[in-house]
Amino acid sequence: MLNIKKVENIEITKNIFVKPEYLINSVISGNKLRKLKYNIQKFLKSKSEGIITFGGAYSNHIDAVATVGKYLKIPTIGLIRGEELAFRHLSNPTLSYAMKCGMKLIFLSRAEYKKKDSKEYLANLKLENPNYFIIPEGGTNLLGVKGCEEILSTNDRDFDFICCSVGTGGTFCGLINSSLSHQKIIGFSATKGPFLKEDICKFVAKSNWDLNEQYQMGGYGKVNSDLIKFINDFNFKYKIQLDPVYTGKMMYGIFDLQKKQFFPKKKKILAIHSGGLQGIKGMNMYLKSKNLNQIK
Ligand SMILES: Cc1ncc(COP(=O)(O)O)c(C=O)c1O
Repeated sequence: MLNIKKVENIEITKNIFVKPEYLINSVISGNKLRKLKYNIQKFLKSKSEGIITFGGAYSNHIDAVATVGKYLKIPTIGLIRGEELAFRHLSNPTLSYAMKCGMKLIFLSRAEYKKKDSKEYLANLKLENPNYFIIPEGGTNLLGVKGCEEILSTNDRDFDFICCSVGTGGTFCGLINSSLSHQKIIGFSATKGPFLKEDICKFVAKSNWDLNEQYQMGGYGKVNSDLIKFINDFNFKYKIQLDPVYTGKMMYGIFDLQKKQFFPKKKKILAIHSGGLQGIKGMNMYLKSKNLNQIK
């Protein structure tokens, strides 16, 4: 189930191409599979009993780890940001799916969730769950980055700009590590940040990258009617579904920068479609509740 299919880039305009990473596997899409590939291999070798990981209410990573747990019969625990979700997780499509897959959900206050990467917190977690393998939020660790180094192939050498969406930064780092010196990697932040450049520098030694924080549209999971319209128009025109949290904002940014002539003429741009389409259901429930246009 962790097989990765080869995908062909899709030309959408004369100079913009999409790498449809959402098509690399039928159950786990895009960068989630890339980041889990080596983590799961290590887990299987470690003979641990199960996996613990972290995520928010609509987390694609929680969805992916729960799916792996279901298919490979691995017990999984999800530590979820937001105590309040304990009372309404059944109406949240991502969390109710994760539970159906067998994931045990534990809801943490935002203050506690913030500690999730500290040495002390992790040491305690290990003490309480000695036989569990811990994967950080978003699957971003050295092994996750290693998996994302396999996104670009030798067929992508001609591209001048490689664009991706940035959450925890693992995908961006993998792309940077496998890029060539003439290529520039542009990460479009999906969160308000400020994004810690030191976090990126933990995993990369190159400097051919830039982090764009102009298109996060109010922060993680926040949307506006312009973005929803863009996603629907894009799908109508190019027959490619974008998600509202990550790839929609990235593509909106690429088109806007293209309009502003940021990309020099004749330069080729490759946009990584990193998946995340499972999140549309939850977003549409939210948009409907506010009487706003939904993603078609
Ligand atoms: C669909 C999708 N695209 C992009 C990202 C951002 O990836 P990263 O967390 O590696 O920066 C995520 C989140 O992990 C995601 O789910």
